[in-house]
Amino acid sequence: MGTTATIQIGDKTIDCPVIVGTENEVGIDIQVLRDKTGAVTFDPGYGNTGACESAVTFLDGEQGILRYRGYPIEQLAGPASFLEVSWLLLKGELPNAAELAAFDAAEKAHRELPDYAVAVIKALPKNVHPMAALASVLVALTTSEDSPKAVEAGLAKNELTLLAQLPTLAAYIYRHSQGLDFVGPDAGLSYAANYLNMMFKGTKLATTDEAIAKALDLLFILHADHEQNCSTSTVRLVGSAQAGLSASLAAGVTALWGPLHGGANQAVIEMLDEVVAHQNGDVGWAVAQAKDKNSNFRLMGFGHRVYKNFDPRAKLIKVQADLVLGKLGKDDKQLALAKGLEQAALQDEYFIQRKLYPNVDFYSGIIYRALGFPPEMFTVLFAIGRLPGWMSHWNEHNAGKARIGRPRQIYTGKNARDFVAVDKR
Ligand code: CMC
Repeated sequence: MGTTATIQIGDKTIDCPVIVGTENEVGIDIQVLRDKTGAVTFDPGYGNTGACESAVTFLDGEQGILRYRGYPIEQLAGPASFLEVSWLLLKGELPNAAELAAFDAAEKAHRELPDYAVAVIKALPKNVHPMAALASVLVALTTSEDSPKAVEAGLAKNELTLLAQLPTLAAYIYRHSQGLDFVGPDAGLSYAANYLNMMFKGTKLATTDEAIAKALDLLFILHADHEQNCSTSTVRLVGSAQAGLSASLAAGVTALWGPLHGGANQAVIEMLDEVVAHQNGDVGWAVAQAKDKNSNFRLMGFGHRVYKNFDPRAKLIKVQADLVLGKLGKDDKQLALAKGLEQAALQDEYFIQRKLYPNVDFYSGIIYRALGFPPEMFTVLFAIGRLPGWMSHWNEHNAGKARIGRPRQIYTGKNARDFVAVDKR
């Protein structure tokens, strides 16, 4: 392959540099295109646009490959802990034993929320969606952002604090919505076990089962990063205006909330409920509806912009769904329904042709529900997992020659015309 790509528009020809990534991904650098020809590229939804160079995560949608900093997700999910993976994403390398121990201790020491953040949670209406609450309080946390240069236990202090506080924030938001007293963090418990404890202590959903905590930790790992997805691109874009870390993350939370992105985990459960309530669990009806272009029904948890073979996270989560539901002794009718729906869709020509497969959200909600999380909290769990990824990208963007993100457009509105005063119209 040559090192330049030639683009011809009318009588103008320009050579654009070709850049090649470490996994041989090829990009045409069109930065000079507009200056030299007056034209811009047109790519709605950015399906074919590389917005940055990044060394965080590699994803090959055709092969179903996902690697964090070069490590395959299959090797991290299980043996590694979420904190270890968070360090890997943020620092670029795995921590050694001493680094991990110091990080673990520091995380445990920073779990308490500042009083004003607790007051903000208490001031919110009980029925506010937890993702709205999460975004609101994250923005408020901006005021306590440490100097970006402060370091503790080898990590930027504001990143460490946010990692430690997000589960507390999520648990308090949940307990506020339920009218329950808050349960503070317990430094004797692991990251995920502490989160479960703060969520459910004193209720019939309380669990001290380490295997359940381990399963939740694994789910956090599977969500930890996914290169330039909608919310991560949002975090980078907001950060590119030199907005602070928490403010950029809050924007990421609101992007993630959408049902086409992280909000799909809640939407899957609602869809499965709909299939049971109105169609007595008829998966054929759901598949037919999803194919019908006159219907708004989509198979939620199916399809992906990048994965066109399988989503490796979905494979791992499906195994966890069986394990967790088995462990809890739950015979979840929704799990059986989801498996039936998956099978029916995967055999259907519509889904085969369009390469639509279950994605990370298809089975995760079933696990969360079995653990007792209400559907509105599912996307909050996604956000806890995605936090280290968002922060890694925010850092990467701001460490480089960070230009503000500012796409062009093709204007299709009215041509210039003269204003007419209201009494003459
Ligand atoms: N059910 C039915 N048809 C679908 C679905 C679906 N879930 N997904 C895509 N299609 C069809 C779509 O109608 C289109 O058909 P046609 O070519 O006839 O017009 C074709 O497949 C291509 O779809 P697209 O909408 O152009 O694909 P996209 O890359 O723009 O969207 C997606 C990707 C994930 C938003 C979409 O597949 C979708 O809406 N899925 C359901 C929501 C979901 O599960 N989202 C979670 C994504 S994974 C977690 C995350 O990281 O966010």
